[in-house]
Amino acid sequence: MDNPGKRSDSGGDRAILVQNMFDRIAVRYELLNTVMTAGLHRVWNRKVIGAANLLPGDAVLDLACGTGSLSRDLAKRVGPTGRVLGIDFSKEMLRAAESRPRPNIEYRFGDATKLEGVPSGGFDAATIAYGARNIPDLDALFSEMSRAVRPGGSVVCLEIARPKNPVFSAFYGLWFDRIVPKVGGKISGDAKAYSYLPESVKEFVAAEDLAGIMERNGLQDVTYRIIAGGIITLHRGVRRF
Ligand SMILES: C[S@@+](CC[C@H](N)C(=O)[O-])C[C@H]1O[C@@H](n2cnc3c(N)ncnc32)[C@H](O)[C@@H]1O
Repeated sequence: MDNPGKRSDSGGDRAILVQNMFDRIAVRYELLNTVMTAGLHRVWNRKVIGAANLLPGDAVLDLACGTGSLSRDLAKRVGPTGRVLGIDFSKEMLRAAESRPRPNIEYRFGDATKLEGVPSGGFDAATIAYGARNIPDLDALFSEMSRAVRPGGSVVCLEIARPKNPVFSAFYGLWFDRIVPKVGGKISGDAKAYSYLPESVKEFVAAEDLAGIMERNGLQDVTYRIIAGGIITLHRGVRRF
């Protein structure tokens, strides 16, 4: 691939497809997340919080916040003197998020690659969990994330990956390619959405390429960890001074 930061399917068609898909599954999204990760998504949220180096009182931008699963954990961490701004482009995912309000979280409709009304340098950290893989223009995403955080602030990206270890890989293939689309399709009533999930993971850029994309979009000291037996990647970078 010539430029992994801008994947070939970067047209607006894919964005509309993704938006509609999350609108359709919003009501069941958190239940399915819990079932499919056996509750481990909360553990992975904590890894994001650790990587973001958050302190009480901090301001955090949570992009592609969906139903607010990570936003709520971030809000707990920064406490009543801190604040979280969650942005998503699915109205229904945001509606589900807003059904569980927290005084220090604001949810807003918006595109993570074109953050309107988000001040430059206004946040101590920016996070995105399971969102990047849905976004064709990763350069635009990470340049917006790095613009939004203050110099020295952290940008953290959590994503699903395919494990390289052959034993894990066989188990994962069975779970992710066969069981998840069936169970997800049954519970959500949307088989298409849950076959999109493994496809989008297969298509996503390699971890080292993602690190390169972050570096060329204003971030330094970019590192990544592959966790949970290779099924999750956690990237972190620091906004250049
Ligand atoms: C798998 S969900 C992740 C939700 C949440 N971060 C979590 O941890 O559960 C992916 C979310 O990304 C959102 N999304 C995808 N592309 C987006 C974009 N360009 N701008 C804003 N949100 C986007 C979708 O609407 C969806 O809510």
